[in-house]
Parts: sequence; C-alpha cells; structure tokens
Amino acid sequence: MCGIVGYAGNPRTACGKPLEVCLQGLERLEYRGYDSAGVAVTAPSMGHVEVRKKAGRLSNLVSSLEQTPLPDATVAIGHTRWATNGVPSDVNAHPHTSQDGKVAIIHNGIIENASQLRLDLQAQGYRFASATDTEVAAKLLGKIVDAVIEEKGHPDLFEAMQRLGRMLEGAFTILAIDEREPEIVVGARHDSPLVVGLGEGENFLGSDVAAFVAYTKKAMEIDQDQVVKVSSDEIIVSDFYGNIVENPRTYEVDWDASAAEKGGWDSFMDKEIHEDPAAVQQTLMGRLSEDGEIQLDEVRIDENELKSIDKIVVVACGTASYAGMVAKYAIEHWVRIPVEIELAHEFRYRDPILTPRTLVVAISQSGETMDTLMALRHAREQGSKVLAICNTQGASIARESDAVLYTHAGPEVAVASTKAFVAQITAAYILGLYLAQIKGTVFRDEIRGTLDQLQAMPRKIQWILDTQVDTIAKAAAQLDDAKSFLFLGRHVGYPVALEGALKLKEIAYTFTEGFAAGELKHGPIALVDEGEPVVFIVPPARGRNILHAKVISGIEEVKARGATIIAVAEEGDPDVDRYADFVFWRPECPTLMSPLVDVVPLQLFAMDMANQKGYDVDKPRNLAKSVTVE
Ligand code: F6R
Repeated sequence: MCGIVGYAGNPRTACGKPLEVCLQGLERLEYRGYDSAGVAVTAPSMGHVEVRKKAGRLSNLVSSLEQTPLPDATVAIGHTRWATNGVPSDVNAHPHTSQDGKVAIIHNGIIENASQLRLDLQAQGYRFASATDTEVAAKLLGKIVDAVIEEKGHPDLFEAMQRLGRMLEGAFTILAIDEREPEIVVGARHDSPLVVGLGEGENFLGSDVAAFVAYTKKAMEIDQDQVVKVSSDEIIVSDFYGNIVENPRTYEVDWDASAAEKGGWDSFMDKEIHEDPAAVQQTLMGRLSEDGEIQLDEVRIDENELKSIDKIVVVACGTASYAGMVAKYAIEHWVRIPVEIELAHEFRYRDPILTPRTLVVAISQSGETMDTLMALRHAREQGSKVLAICNTQGASIARESDAVLYTHAGPEVAVASTKAFVAQITAAYILGLYLAQIKGTVFRDEIRGTLDQLQAMPRKIQWILDTQVDTIAKAAAQLDDAKSFLFLGRHVGYPVALEGALKLKEIAYTFTEGFAAGELKHGPIALVDEGEPVVFIVPPARGRNILHAKVISGIEEVKARGATIIAVAEEGDPDVDRYADFVFWRPECPTLMSPLVDVVPLQLFAMDMANQKGYDVDKPRNLAKSVTVE
C-alpha cells in the first residue's frame, strides 16, 4: 500500500540519477498502489524543493516530466499512492509540502490523529490544499523544522523528524527532504515498512527492496519507531528520542533485479503462474537432509517447546489464509493437534484463547500485512510463540516472529497472489511434517513417502502448464460474459474453491462465491439457474474415495438444473467427462497434494478471463499488493 522511494547522491556526480532512481523504483513499486504518483527533488545548486505529481498511473507523471523536465538534483523522494484518505487527484497526490514549501514529504500509512492536528494547525493560520493526512504531517514537520532552527540556530531535519515521530499516531513511513539540507533524505517508520539500500557514494530508501535492487543488493533494516538520515556517504539511525542505534542489521537481498521484471511475458501474473513449479521446488530446497529427515535449522524455537505444542492457530488474510486452510487438513492428519484458521483482522478483537503451548503461524507473502502483524503481536503478548511463513526477507512479520520459515518463491509483483500460494502450502506442509517428525506422530517411512510426493509436485504442476493452457484459454473465451460463478470443493478442494473464486473476483471483476460442496443443498443451490457456471474441484476417484462420489453427485444435481459445469479433475476421470462442459485436467496425485496442482488452472482461468475483458491483470482496480493499513 503506497510505494516509497528515496535517493541521496553526491552533488558533484548525481546529475539525473535521483530522478532516474525514483522513477525506476516507482515502476517496481507500482504494485503497491496506482492511484497517483509524484516526486520531489532538491540540490545545493537549486536552492528550493521542486515537486511534480499526477493523478493516475506512473506513466502520467512520466509524460508530464518529459514535457517539463526537472533540474538535476542531489536528493529525491518518490511516491506511488493507494488512496486511504482523499480521493485520487493531483492535489491529493504526494509529495506534500510545508507551508513555506521548503520541506517535502511522502507517506505510507494512516495518521490517526490527523484531524486534531489539522484543526490545531488551522487555528495557527496554516492552510491546507488537500484532504490528506499526509499534508497535515508535512505542515507539522515544516513547523517543527522552524522551531529547531530557532532553538539550534541551524536546520536539523533529522531531529525534526524524531519530534514528528513522537507526535503522530497511527501507522506511517515518512520520507522528507528540506531545501536547507539538500544532501540528505530523512525517513521515519512506525508500523509501516522502510528499508535502506547501501550503495557506493549513494544510498537509497524504499518501502521494500524492489525500490533499489537494480542498484544495490545490500540492505539495512530500519526498525519500529526509528528515524534514519541518509546522505551519499553516511547513514545514521536513531530512535524517536535521538538515541543513536549502533550497527543496524544489514543483509544481502537474495534475488536479482531481473526476478522482478516481466522478462518477455505479457504480464507479471502470467510469469508468476509459470513460476509455480519453481516456487514449490525452491521452498523445499535445503530443508531435507540426505537421510530424508526434515531439517529446519532456521526455526529457532526449541525442539522441546515445539514438542509440547497442543494447538496451532494460523493467522493470515486472503489467499494466505486459504493456504493455511489447506494446511489444516494435512497438519491435523499428520500431527493430531487442532489447527484453527483465523482471519488476522478478526483474531485479536475477539479475545482468542492462546496459551504458551499454542503455536501461532502467521502466513504472509509480503510480510507487511498490517492485520497479520497486529495479530502476531497480540499472540506474542499472550505468551504464545509465533512462527512466520513469509516470502520477503527482513519484512516486519518475519522480524517480529519467534521463528521464520521463508518461502522462496521470489518476488511476487502481480497484485493477485499466485506462486506465493503454492509456496505457502509447501512451507506449511514442511512445518507439519517437521512437527510430526519431532512429536513422533507419523512413521519415518511415511514422512519420507510424503516428502517424495511433495518433491514430485513441481513436475506435476509443470504438466498442467504444458498441456492445459489452451483448453483453459478457450473456456475463458466462451465464458467471459458470465455474470457470476460458483466454486465448489470438498476437503482440501474447499479452500482451493475459495481461492479460485477470489482470483476470478479480484482480477476479472466477476461476482463469485466459493462454497464447501457439501453446503450446496443447504442454500447455494438456489443460485443455480440455466447456464450458471459452476466450477467443481473434483477429488481423485482412486482408492474408492467416498468424497469423489459425493462431489460427482453435486455435479449431477446442478447439471439437472441447467448449470454449465467446469471441472478441475484427475486425468481421464470418466464421471467428470460425462457431465462437465469444460474440464481442466490434472495429473494423478494424492489428495493432500492436489491443491498444489488444482489451483493452477484456476489461476490461469482468472487471468484469461481478465485478459478477455481487457483488464490489467497485474493491477486490478482498487487493490494494492501489500495491505499495510488495518
Ligand atoms: C489475493 C491476495 C490477497 C493477499 C492478502 C495477504 O490475490 O493477494 O488476498 O493474499 O492480502 O497478503 P500477504 O500474504 O502479503 O499477507
């Protein structure tokens, strides 16, 4: 939610680089919000701060900068917005400036005491052009900068930002530049992400490493309630009270800039669906010892403590919560302890029962989802251990958990989550099998057999990508004018149905509902009419699977009422062939493994439907990749 980038270069060499870095960074961060974009620059030679901003996509800003170029600068800040307060417009776009225009800021988050601060400032004669909380912070920062100058006799944006941090409530990452200190960018964060990129004779800031990974892979973590001052050759970090933080943690980004590029694909979503097999494979890598044991050295929770766990609570949102639901079936089966799935935003407000023997598993691709972050903080306050399943190195959720199991899906750029889902299921399965291993609830041979099945999954997913793409595209071409879709599944097929419904809803703007297939006769069948498309996730028939027969009955029931049947089913299933209008085949695999393949045709179908309708599959309306406000 809102992308932030900052750059500090050397006045003698920076030239056009600050703007170039900002625009490149914003392009990579645009998935965080695309309601408007803006930049602000300054330099010793300029003597003032210059701001450019435009409503709409980044391309609007780029065209306006081509028409009226900015002067060369030393420092720059750039912002791509997902509107929280104030409609998307030029005037509400960031950066916002202080009353005298000498200070410019950009912001991600929501400042909860902005209304009161605005009234106080208005009473002192401050005038506001926009409806945003950010402009309030900009005016206030300008006022604090003036007060600091009066007290100290010289400007000190670093100290002013510390004071601002103490006055704001809510969630914020703020970057600021001041024409009186044209060689620094200052940032502050509270409950919202900020990372520094360490360059040679230049330094970077970003809401995530994608902002600067094209220039440097060395990153520095900025922690909760910290302020950072960045120039071309120095980085100083303090808390909101000015206490300097010695040796902030640094790390190497483990992916390359090219991983966040489209690389010839029509869309990031297409590319990322085709990375499903690799996401599973890379998430498995390094977690199995030569003798077939699961080794999770990175899980820093003591083995005895894990042995005593008597309940797991998964906290997550959206797609990540469906990955958790899939894992519930497997973990309860293997570990024989209850697994509860909680939407993170409901969790902490309903006084959940947590004990030191509860393991809370926070699943998050971005690692910055505010609802999930707040849920894990609540769990830790109650004395439970938290393990994060996260795809983003150094993200807040990973940092604030007791342990992290990283999914190695690589950066996910398309707003709709795809490869992260299969990677999250894989990581949760590894965790389940690890718990089974240390608790001794499953025989070693069975664990090994299950690991073999998991290792076979990338190949099976690839089979779908190699053989089903055309069939799926043809189905989308015939169904793209359908007004609504129902998605039904049982057992692990149920969360897959929910995920399939979510994908189609969010990128093709089609009304969809996902149900447990067993619910059909308890209500949803009333929606079935002539031609209503109903998607069924059909379990394998092998081993006289009773659920297969039950799902086929469901298909018969809706078929009898004129529904159009779309089925995801095991290759050659004769019952499906008999009834379905469209079939997306999957290769044979055990039931617990089937979500890893069954979701793939549904991802492709949603993408094809959105493409048919001419929508931007990577940037669906109203959405942003990382939901950093509650
Ligand atoms: C849907 C989607 C969202 C995210 C959810 C959680 O395609 O992407 O539902 O899954 O916002 O995001 P993370 O995993 O970053 O916490």
